[in-house]
Amino acid sequence: KITPVLLAGGSGTRLWPVSRKTFPKQFSSITGDETLFQAAVRRLAGPVYAPPIVMTNADFRFIVAGQLEQTGVSGATIVVEPVGRNTAPAILAAAQMVASGNPLGLVLVAPSDHMISDSAAFSAIVTKAVEIVKTGRIVVFGVRPDRPASAYGYLELADQEGDFQMVRRFIEKPATDRAADLLADGNCLWNAGIFLFQAQAMIDEFRNHAPEFLSPVQASLDLARHDTDFLWLGDEPWRELPDRSIDYAIMEKSGNIAVCRLSCHWADLGGWDSVWHEAVAACPTGNAVVADEGATAIDCRNVLLRSGGDDLQVVGIGLRDMIVVATSDAVLVADLKRAQDVRLAVDALAAKR
Ligand code: GDD
Ligand code: MG
Repeated sequence: KITPVLLAGGSGTRLWPVSRKTFPKQFSSITGDETLFQAAVRRLAGPVYAPPIVMTNADFRFIVAGQLEQTGVSGATIVVEPVGRNTAPAILAAAQMVASGNPLGLVLVAPSDHMISDSAAFSAIVTKAVEIVKTGRIVVFGVRPDRPASAYGYLELADQEGDFQMVRRFIEKPATDRAADLLADGNCLWNAGIFLFQAQAMIDEFRNHAPEFLSPVQASLDLARHDTDFLWLGDEPWRELPDRSIDYAIMEKSGNIAVCRLSCHWADLGGWDSVWHEAVAACPTGNAVVADEGATAIDCRNVLLRSGGDDLQVVGIGLRDMIVVATSDAVLVADLKRAQDVRLAVDALAAKR
């Protein structure tokens, strides 16, 4: 069986003010009824999957536990990281947990801030990928890019090798002009942020490319304590860990990465620009103005207007290329092209306190 590892410890600052430090985006329903986290949990439940491991932090542990319960998925292990150190240590810790039971155990790491609407198609793709993983490769999932977004990792493809393709180069978050070059070459896919591997294979990648993570993560696991609902990782060794994502720590360095195409619909809702793109794509006849029930757009173009609900009216007139997001206690007005900079707002506000 495959052990799903859900990453649910990020703070989602690029979706401020809807995503808050104490209640980030993955626990909200940006679109639809279920939250993004719940949809991710349900997507990775079923006969081929073992109960999931959810990696999160102390602030979100009750949200995770509550939302997990509503999904009806049982037997999950909720792992509490003492502090956020980004995805590299979280993924290594999960790999070591699985490897301690079975080094060849299969692990599927998934973020919890994504939308994949066709779960059946996704499962079929994962089943195909399992064959590749058995050769000791790390499998990433590639999405056809449609714009030079700098929010993603880019997978430059090598020649076909039998049934699958290897990644020649992994380029995490290139600047927009570099992304445009990569797009023009036509040989790149976006990294969907989902990884499939044998537990030991990922540990070996760390041994080769980021050995400084191994002992602190192992020490945190050795010091870990269980209470009724959570597995608390040992505090001190975890704090020593570098703050680094798996993409920079391993993916950009490894020569052992195979790619599986994610042909089903995929969207990362990491910023307001992707929320806007997604809504526009879903409504091809629209004029690229996305407004919710409490919002009214008059003579606007390329605009996302969002009001928290119908007790707050937001009206835009003559706007171009803009994001306006209002909640009961905060309003964001930003250039659509600067959507990825919304994290700066969070930093600026934090500095004021
Ligand atoms: N447990 C835990 N601990 N989870 C974390 C932490 C942490 O310290 N930091 C982030 N996460 C979670 C986030 O909540 C999210 O679900 C996932 O890990 C990915 O982190 P993001 O911060 O959203 O990464 P990204 O979107 O900038 O980039 C990644 O995803 C892109 C696709 O959406 C990269 O893998 C890119 O290469 C990729 O294209
Ligand atoms: Mg993301």
